[in-house]
Amino acid sequence: MIRVLTGDRPTGNLHIGHYFGSLKKRLEMQESGLYEIFILIADVQALTDNFNTPEKVRKNVREVIIDYLSIGLDPSKVTFLIQSMIPEIAELTVFYSNLVTIARLERNPTVKTEIAQKKELFGESVTYGFLGYPVSQAADITIFSGEEVPVGEDQIPLIEQCREIVRKFNNIYGEVLTEPKAILSKSKRIKGVDCNEKMGKSLGNAIYLCDSDEEINKKIMSAITDPNRIKKDDPGNPEICMVKYYHELFSTSKECENVCEECKLGKRGCVACKKELIDNIKKEFAPIREKRKYYEEHPEEVDKILIDGTNKARRVAKENMKKIKQAMKLDYFEE
Ligand code: TRP
Repeated sequence: MIRVLTGDRPTGNLHIGHYFGSLKKRLEMQESGLYEIFILIADVQALTDNFNTPEKVRKNVREVIIDYLSIGLDPSKVTFLIQSMIPEIAELTVFYSNLVTIARLERNPTVKTEIAQKKELFGESVTYGFLGYPVSQAADITIFSGEEVPVGEDQIPLIEQCREIVRKFNNIYGEVLTEPKAILSKSKRIKGVDCNEKMGKSLGNAIYLCDSDEEINKKIMSAITDPNRIKKDDPGNPEICMVKYYHELFSTSKECENVCEECKLGKRGCVACKKELIDNIKKEFAPIREKRKYYEEHPEEVDKILIDGTNKARRVAKENMKKIKQAMKLDYFEE
């Protein structure tokens, strides 16, 4: 089996951008039976830019695990773990910090963009922890010998940096670490209800997996449609309509064709089109909601899933740390 490691920062509920971007890919991997999957809830990484709101990070660890379980990730097939509960990750991060230069971290395009966006938090000088999070992410992946890392496009520079660290380590200390490969999920980035290229919490344009019927109604009813279409029987252009964009995600191709045809002929108004989309979103979400409700009502089961997953992960991490310390001549007083 191929060892897969991936993760998320627990900074908020997951939305349909995550769902179509990465979560469906994980489900596919789970169902194929070809992979041994570890999913890491990156609370330490979340603290690098949320260090002043620890209660928010803690609350979101719970939200994220419930999101995972409710979309059908199955704890009997996937190992879920909390990053801060694996001390070997922090230890390995320290070892790796000798193998990476400040200049190289500052050049990382993902980190660079994020620092520019976080001027308010960091002011003139970024923290050591935030600048160094790619190093800790390299530790996340390699302590579990992750071979494949399914991620979005924005994460590619982080995986590249991880690969460099691995090569450098293996060069100096011997071939101990596995060099991971990024697996890009095919589906493109999902746009927000306001037509923005990116869906995100801070942009206020996301549809969450945990949204209520009412929230979904409100969001879809106010989604941007063809601005030139004023009256219901004006012919519309589906290519510039967010409702058509979401129909492609949630509706069958036949339904899509149908609404587009009727729109172009001015035969279907936007309200009727939105209603059909809302119904299809609710259909897709129904089993997700049912599972969410179950786990919200059984918090002790969620605890057990996290404890068991983290314990299993810890055993793997300990094994690997032993080999790493041997290679680095840090295996004092070992038999
Ligand atoms: N940086 C990732 C994100 O923001 C989260 C993450 C942490 C991760 N550790 C990881 C992803 C290891 C893949 C592998 O989404």
